[in-house]
Amino acid sequence: MDTANRFARYLRFRSVLDDPFVELDLSHSALEESDVTALTPALTKALQAMQELEAGSVANPDEGRQVGHFWLRAPGLAPSEELEQTIRGSIDDLAAFVQTVHSGRIAPPEGGLFRKVVLCGIGGSALGPMLLADVFGGPSQPMELFVLDNTDPAGIDRALERVGSLQDALVIVISKSGGTAETRNGMLEVRRAVEQQGLAFASRAVAVTMDGSKLHQLATGEKWLQTFPMWDWVGGRTSITAAVGLLPGALIGMDVRAFLAGAAAMDDATRNPDVWQNPAAMLAAFWHHEGQGKGERAMVVLPYKDRMLLLSRYMQQLVMESLGKEHDRQGNVVNQGLAVYGNKGSTDQHAYVQQLRDGRHDFFATFVRVLQDRDGDEHFEVADGVTAGDFLDGFWQGTRTALHEKGRRSGTIAVDRIDERVLGALVGLFERTVSIYAELIDTNAYHQPGVEAGKKAAGVVLDLQSKLLAAITADAQSVTALAEKVSADPADCWPILQHLAANRSHLHVVRGHEPADATFLRR
Ligand code: PA5
Repeated sequence: MDTANRFARYLRFRSVLDDPFVELDLSHSALEESDVTALTPALTKALQAMQELEAGSVANPDEGRQVGHFWLRAPGLAPSEELEQTIRGSIDDLAAFVQTVHSGRIAPPEGGLFRKVVLCGIGGSALGPMLLADVFGGPSQPMELFVLDNTDPAGIDRALERVGSLQDALVIVISKSGGTAETRNGMLEVRRAVEQQGLAFASRAVAVTMDGSKLHQLATGEKWLQTFPMWDWVGGRTSITAAVGLLPGALIGMDVRAFLAGAAAMDDATRNPDVWQNPAAMLAAFWHHEGQGKGERAMVVLPYKDRMLLLSRYMQQLVMESLGKEHDRQGNVVNQGLAVYGNKGSTDQHAYVQQLRDGRHDFFATFVRVLQDRDGDEHFEVADGVTAGDFLDGFWQGTRTALHEKGRRSGTIAVDRIDERVLGALVGLFERTVSIYAELIDTNAYHQPGVEAGKKAAGVVLDLQSKLLAAITADAQSVTALAEKVSADPADCWPILQHLAANRSHLHVVRGHEPADATFLRR
């Protein structure tokens, strides 16, 4: 970087959305004018592809699906009037439902008001709501969100212990496909807990899912309180502006129309064909350049704001599930991706930032900086003329400089404050950046074959478990004997037997931690 012209460079490598204010500053990246010039034809092509995607092309050919999350905040752009009305109607329905819950017209059958939301979902059906609750939740809000996003029984017990009484709890089950095992298990566990407390389940249960899914059938068959739609053209990890994010968000009291408006404003700004003035195109150029188009460096996401703690987890899924692919769209093996991790500043300066500055040079940083320190105009000084917020912003700038001095690059996104419009704009920025980046590397960002493979593999394990359970008798048998009986590899049987023995009291195991000696029998 030409240090004499740092300010000029900042002005050149800055792209801004005015309302709400979101500034992308790439002055501390390695990008030079010539790099942006070289990438401009590819970026322009990507922006054209985005136009086609938004017009309704089948941008996810592997699943034969359109990609329409951008229509959710600009229904007028949906490819048909019918779809436009469907989207508008769904937002009105959702707002009306939430209003009736808050006003008490929809209330627990056992009396009182709904004050808690217990959400069962995973991946894209949980991370968006979790981010929204972390940013906007709080004791002054009308409802509190609790999330069950795993099939870990101890985790479920712990979450339900935190929830306490379920009498004032509305249960939302979110699954686009309606068949995800973790979500179904969470729902069954919550249902059991509700019934153990002597409460009714169906009259406090709400589903968000695609029409006709197993979850949809269950919810309609059992006459749950309500179901809200998911559509095949909205991906899980881009569903935060669908009912997946909006329903829990509205229930905890956030202004979801402002959130949608913020995303729409960023969508408009990032359709700009002038690459230099298009924050998503510039951010994609930055990510691409830092990792040489192959994700050769990981991205560290560091918001200097506690409320944004979950942003890195949210972005980790959005980026890695979208870009982490074995094949490009031509079928070539490319093993693409971009690793993302992070937490928050300045806290992380007391942890891994040490390595970032002095250790392996295998990353670049994307900082998020919030200009307004706190609500209200309290101005408490922790030293002469200095507030805690001055420290926070100083730590961001100091860290950026310290990294830059060692040749470690960063981009910074600055916003005035964190409110619904701003978070919507940030979501819009990251979603479109991922789409543009995927165009640059010729990858389908909208499917997830690796996730599906994991689901299938778990099914195989559970089938083998049923066979082993049937094969265990009152006589002690070793792992090799049992494996032979069910015609499977002992290496696959051992972890299953080990887990069964730890969790089924009617199974007896002798020398349970010694694979060669352990024997299993049914009592
Ligand atoms: O982004 C995705 O597609 C995934 O992370 C899904 O959201 C996740 O697997 C959950 O799927 P579903 O909503 O169908 O239960």
